[in-house]
Amino acid sequence: MKSIAIDGPAGAGKSTLAKALAKKLGYLYVDTGAIYRCVGLYAIEHGIAPRDIPAVEACLPKVEISLTYDESGSQRMQLCGADVTERIRTPEVSMAASAVSAIPAVRAFLLDMQRDMARRYDVIMDGRDIGTVVLPHADVKIFLTASPEARAKRRFIELQAKGDPASYEEVLRDMIKRDKDDSTRAAAPLKAAEDAVLLDTTPYSLDESIALLQKIVEEKMV
Ligand code: DC
Repeated sequence: MKSIAIDGPAGAGKSTLAKALAKKLGYLYVDTGAIYRCVGLYAIEHGIAPRDIPAVEACLPKVEISLTYDESGSQRMQLCGADVTERIRTPEVSMAASAVSAIPAVRAFLLDMQRDMARRYDVIMDGRDIGTVVLPHADVKIFLTASPEARAKRRFIELQAKGDPASYEEVLRDMIKRDKDDSTRAAAPLKAAEDAVLLDTTPYSLDESIALLQKIVEEKMV
């Protein structure tokens, strides 16, 4: 099986680009952030503070997550039997996902699920630690980034389209905090793998970014 690892901070365009490339290559796209978001949502819905390590650890045996794909090939998330694909996309869940993701027991709990997908399918997997921890032997590793302002603007437009009332300033502030927390945590922090190709998409349009990404993958795969 082939695997492509894409890591980078929030809003760098990982999911949009990875999804587009997966379609072109006929690979399965796996959004690992969605799995952490399920744990964050579970904590919120059960009155557990996402930073309360013992409480989050204690709830893990009850957290049943499954990942499926609909007819159009889009990833859907089920949490304890309920479809939560849309519910995990709120700013509150983003912050909760980042908080629970710093807990080593949470990361260990989700590791097999991610590796299992790569054992069974050709995957493009995106997250924070895919090239460093989840798939250290990935065929291609990419570290995707963009300026905080460019990333916050994209995320703000996405949220606005969904009717979320968050302001641009709030989105930018949350994003900077989340990146800092994700990069400075002890367990599998966000960082580029030594053998990752760095791609900063700030100056590029979506189509240009897809073309650049495809070029990197084609060059590495030969
Ligand atoms: O990719 P995302 O923004 O949906 O991810 C939500 C949070 O989950 C992110 O702030 C950090 C965490 N995460 C992680 O720690 N490791 C991953 N591989 C993916 C996400």
